[in-house]
Amino acid sequence: MRPAAPRTTGPEGAVPVAHGVHWIGALDPGLRSFDVILKTANGTTYNSYLVRGTEGVAVIDTVKAEFAPAFFERLEAVARYDEIRYIVLNHLEPDHTGAVPELIRRAPQAEILLSPRGLPMLRALLGEAFATAQVKPVTTGHAVSLGNRSLAFFNTPYVHWPDTQCTWLPEERVLFTCDLFGSHFCDGRLFEDRVDDFRHAFDNYFDRIMRPFRSFVISALDLIEPLDFAMIAPAHGPILRAAPRDWLARTRALATPRTKAETAEKVLLIFYVSAYGATAQLAQAIHDGAEEEEGVRVSLFDLEGADIGPFLDLIEEADGLAIGTPTINGDAVRTVWDLLARLVDIETRGKMGAAFGSYGWSGEAVRLVETRLQGLKMRLPEPGLRVKLHPSDEELEEGRAFGRRLAQQLTGRAPPREIDFAELAAR
Ligand code: FEO
Repeated sequence: MRPAAPRTTGPEGAVPVAHGVHWIGALDPGLRSFDVILKTANGTTYNSYLVRGTEGVAVIDTVKAEFAPAFFERLEAVARYDEIRYIVLNHLEPDHTGAVPELIRRAPQAEILLSPRGLPMLRALLGEAFATAQVKPVTTGHAVSLGNRSLAFFNTPYVHWPDTQCTWLPEERVLFTCDLFGSHFCDGRLFEDRVDDFRHAFDNYFDRIMRPFRSFVISALDLIEPLDFAMIAPAHGPILRAAPRDWLARTRALATPRTKAETAEKVLLIFYVSAYGATAQLAQAIHDGAEEEEGVRVSLFDLEGADIGPFLDLIEEADGLAIGTPTINGDAVRTVWDLLARLVDIETRGKMGAAFGSYGWSGEAVRLVETRLQGLKMRLPEPGLRVKLHPSDEELEEGRAFGRRLAQQLTGRAPPREIDFAELAAR
């Protein structure tokens, strides 16, 4: 039977997690929005850990700044500041580094261990104090000793930021993963086997935080899966000790493509909105031209009246995306912006992108869409295709040629191209 401790208060003091390991984090039950993008109906926790060895103490991650008093109180319950030999920063987003400046002031002898890509963030976080801090970049293959315990590091970029890493405590078989395997779920009972059901929070956290980096998540899982871990200690939500491999498998499933390609064909999706039918004509011409290229499966969607959510899985697995919009009041239409806004939730890096559309007077929409696609790290091989009012027969032929060229970029029958902002600006 689960202990009847309140979900959103306590625990008092530091909590033993494994031999020589304590949780010294903080609960944030009142949080209702994380990083602006994610609703957090169950609040969250900022998990920090203290590892004690015969030759010193390590602190792994800290908490959001406003929760620093609870963190220091828990830390002081199990260690003195002059015992701290290492401060491990697995990730430098402020929800994990809010107490770092003060911790360094209290434990100036401590060596800060972080990934090389975390250095600029640490410099910005510490300001002038960076010059006197003891800082050591670490990566996969590096380890430090605490006497009878040690910490080894695994570079796992983009789970969630470029700086992210995991830390492995082999003697206790605990893997500290920061955001990876996290969930925004506040329950003071802390452990997976003691808290309320949080599967929805785990999955939602993945969808909103990790999904845009899912190929990096797969790489991270491949790197850490061979470890013989008995516990995953993330920086948010419950500590996974009852069935940690099940959570790894769940994460792998979440990170695996949801719409499986039925063939080896490349997939090109064409979305459009059309005010008077002109952009629709262009979309059809691009579709027809692309279909002439063998090895490409082309699909055409009218966004008007469509729910965008169901398209996200499809787009995530597509190789290329062409977006058509008329220009209205100097802008792309709202339905197109709604689609483009949602693309931040999925992995778009490296996909091929293109824009097209009809216009009456100025025709800015195509360039605006292109800029957004480039911001999503997509590769744009063709300058956008614009036509004034309804396309002529020649312009429809150019649409078909545009579609063929896009398709050939996907099959590799044309040499890879990429336009850049300078080229866009010069147009
Ligand atoms: Fe929990 Fe990416 O910070």
